[in-house]
Amino acid sequence: MNPKFDTVYIGSDHAGYNLKEELKKYFEPKGVKLLDLGTFTTDSIDYPDIAREVSEKVLENPKSLGILICGTGIGMMMTANKNAGIRAAVCTHELMAKMARAHNNANILCLGSRIIGVELARHITEIFLETPFEEEERHVRRVGKIDNPAAGGAGTPAPAPEKPEDCC
Ligand code: RB5
Repeated sequence: MNPKFDTVYIGSDHAGYNLKEELKKYFEPKGVKLLDLGTFTTDSIDYPDIAREVSEKVLENPKSLGILICGTGIGMMMTANKNAGIRAAVCTHELMAKMARAHNNANILCLGSRIIGVELARHITEIFLETPFEEEERHVRRVGKIDNPAAGGAGTPAPAPEKPEDCC
């Protein structure tokens, strides 16, 4: 796991429950501290309730990442992204997991249990947990604009000066 993080909050709705349990079996023995925020059965529940709980925990603990699982990953992603400071990404491919961390500094991974199988979900999760954010100025600036669009990304480095007209 990326040394910047020490905790992973995981949550699912009923559709994602089985995949959540599979991921826990795989990641806990690897020393990943996974805190399960539910659901704990396959009884039908509303995914936004779990998405909010995991989002709140991730915002409280800057050394944490989140994993949210529903049928498609879409409902979890939509709800999580309503929370300022959360950057949730649904990933169906390893490259999406890598780039979500490296360029977008995503702090929640969303998975769709009806879209991908357990093996791919494990692989995607592994990549997401290990990949660092590339803290280059352009990525920091762009992520700042996601988090604070009204201010054009307040708190981020000033954009590079315009190139002079006679410049290449
Ligand atoms: C539940 O049937 C399903 O709608 C939910 O798991 C999720 O896919 C929503 O985005």
